[in-house]
Amino acid sequence: MAQISDVFRAELTLPDLAATALLAGRIASRLKAGDAVALWGDLGAGKTTLARDILRSLGVTEDVPSPSFTIVQTYDTPGLIVAHYDLYRLKSARELFELGFAEALEDGAALVEWPDRAPEHLPDTTLHLRLRIADDGRAVKITGPQRWADIAA
Ligand SMILES: Nc1ncnc2c1ncn2[C@@H]1O[C@H](COP(=O)(O)OP(=O)(O)O)[C@@H](O)[C@H]1O
Ligand SMILES: [Mg+2]
Repeated sequence: MAQISDVFRAELTLPDLAATALLAGRIASRLKAGDAVALWGDLGAGKTTLARDILRSLGVTEDVPSPSFTIVQTYDTPGLIVAHYDLYRLKSARELFELGFAEALEDGAALVEWPDRAPEHLPDTTLHLRLRIADDGRAVKITGPQRWADIAA
């Protein structure tokens, strides 16, 4: 595990979709191969929206569906391959490896919705975003390695 002193924590309100897109842009600009971004939160918390905005910021112009049936959808963005996972329907943690999770992190970055299904398989360096509904918008608790601290500035 990373040392406690190396971990940053922040809480942001995302009052509207523009605020989510702004946070996504900050994450996208710092995302590199080997990074995992865990998107926690109940149905409707805004996980897919944030993942889609990250992919859009990275230059993806094609459709970005929720990968709830395929479990993983991979995007070849300029400069970075990004795998978008939705683990809601994962039957076992082992299935995550059959779906190429280790390779995804070797070849690029992974955005993971419903990480609750296999939390033990996330790398120690994972950036965690815990989304929840707050009034008409969303709120997010962020924890992760210090190198991500700027995204909440
Ligand atoms: N910051 C926000 N403010 C207002 N509505 C939002 C925000 N983020 C997401 N939403 C809306 O919440 C709904 C559910 O979002 P979605 O990303 O599909 O959730 P999840 O993937 O967590 O189930 C969508 O209609 C989306 O437009
Ligand atoms: Mg979703």
